[in-house]
Amino acid sequence: MTNKFIHLPPTEGEYQLSHYEGTRDVFSWESVHAQFSWNKTGKVNMAYECIDRHVDDGYGDKTALIYIEGTKREELTFHELKKRTDQLAALLKSRGVKKGDRVFVFLTKHPDCYVAVLASIKIGAIVGPLFEAFMEEAIYDRMYDCEASVLITNSELLERVPVNKLPHLKSIYITDESEDESLLSIPKLTSNDTEIADVIEWVDLNDGMIIHYTSGSTGKPKGVLHAHRVMVQQYQTGKWVLDLRDDDIYWCTAHPGWVTGSSYGIFAPWLNRATIVVHGGRFAAEEWFDVIEQAGVTVWYSAPTAFRLLMDKTELVKNYNLSSLRHILSVGEPLNPEVITWGVETLNLRIHDTWWMTETGGQLIVNLPSQTIKPGSMGRPLPGIQAAIIDHQGNELKRGELGLLAIKKGWPSMMKEIWKNEEKYHSYFIHDWYLSGDLAYMDEEGYVFFQGRDDDMINSSGERIGPFEVESKLIEHPAVLEAAVIGKPDPVRGEIVKAFIVLVGGYTDNPKLKKEIQTFVRYKLSAHSMPREIEVLDELPKTQISGKILRRELKRKEIEKLVVN
Ligand code: WTA
Repeated sequence: MTNKFIHLPPTEGEYQLSHYEGTRDVFSWESVHAQFSWNKTGKVNMAYECIDRHVDDGYGDKTALIYIEGTKREELTFHELKKRTDQLAALLKSRGVKKGDRVFVFLTKHPDCYVAVLASIKIGAIVGPLFEAFMEEAIYDRMYDCEASVLITNSELLERVPVNKLPHLKSIYITDESEDESLLSIPKLTSNDTEIADVIEWVDLNDGMIIHYTSGSTGKPKGVLHAHRVMVQQYQTGKWVLDLRDDDIYWCTAHPGWVTGSSYGIFAPWLNRATIVVHGGRFAAEEWFDVIEQAGVTVWYSAPTAFRLLMDKTELVKNYNLSSLRHILSVGEPLNPEVITWGVETLNLRIHDTWWMTETGGQLIVNLPSQTIKPGSMGRPLPGIQAAIIDHQGNELKRGELGLLAIKKGWPSMMKEIWKNEEKYHSYFIHDWYLSGDLAYMDEEGYVFFQGRDDDMINSSGERIGPFEVESKLIEHPAVLEAAVIGKPDPVRGEIVKAFIVLVGGYTDNPKLKKEIQTFVRYKLSAHSMPREIEVLDELPKTQISGKILRRELKRKEIEKLVVN
């Protein structure tokens, strides 16, 4: 298999990991432990390492967060961040929230969201950040499964939460005010507030810390639980892969409800004491370029869909001064070589692809700033990571052969468990290998090339969508008898959700009905799971023996149609 794109050598300079080859053989994750306070005490807390520690080390006045939304701009220092998280942590603690309780945070990309996540972690709770665009059903599934007892939100978003259907929910805190007395308003910090001591709950490295729900090809979304120990990998990849340094202004565009927005939107940068940028609001090319210029972003982590949308607005680039940028990274879906070429031609920078998953907690296969990039490849395994291409029996395949991308067990940010689902957790492993579910091949130099999924999971704009979840919602609509959902290749979003439906007798195929069905999914589940295309069929293709829907058959036909056109 040859690659028609030119390889891009690294730009000269010193990087935090400039000597990959030598490091690969000698590096051990244990060597990173010396960086943390718990190396001496044995007790740990992620929130301490991300915030309080920097204050203790004399960096309290350093800007931790720059928030930009429209014309609004706010900055928080590490000291302010400490005070705000201490205050909320103390409030939660005083009301009986304990270690291990599930605290869900449903907020937009706003400083309040970052404070709420870290305050929950400070008291040893397990935090469940929810994506801001989730609607009732998506919220319900997650909070119910997790038996969440606390919710932190605002009065507007609260309208989407089916509180009466959540039997374990004991208290709701809001970041604004409401006339409803059952809601507890989080007090605003004033300059008179004094320091609160001893609010941190010291826990063990392997205690649960954050849970992200993620989709596979079957069943409802599963809760992927990560422990405090993820910090070892997030700290180190923050150095090596993000190449973070003390004066960096770092912008990760993901919402903390997704793993990229927590692992690399909160933890990796703050463990490395970088200043993060939080941009509220939706994607708009002008605003994004403006954020880079205004905040002076130096390191930028985003996703292929966003880059493709920006490519479409290349004429705007000349209106902005983007010269602060020195390092760009991408994650979540295949990064087209054309996008890398655009980066080089328009921004004069390489875009560094990185590969990992919610379950892996941190980056595993990456393009380091010190390495040659082969466009079309996700890069090479990090030092400390052993990757292979295997078959379904766990045998390693030869270089160049297509198979399952697998990682040898034992990296620090590996998930702790799948919430209340041991069987699912075990299904990820064969012998000593963690199975990603991705299909790939590896070349002679260890570069990994993503080729697709081995299951029916859909990846639209970098967001994982389970076909089952959307199908279940579709058949709740009175007009839909049966449904099959697939990812249809799309030039901007990577894939779009396409639904094939069979109508209940008496209903006929028409645009108004399709629109109504789309709206039904959008407002019940979430905008990104809404099928952008719906096709009505007389019947769905099924396996003869078990009657399972043959999504692959539908997908294959869809791809054939695209090729013919
Ligand atoms: C896909 C996001 C191609 C892949 C951090 C993986 C990618 C799934 C890449 C995980 C990449 C992630 N190139 N595909 N660089 N990175 N993926 O859990 O299919 O939301 O299994 O984690 O996204 O998605 P998740």
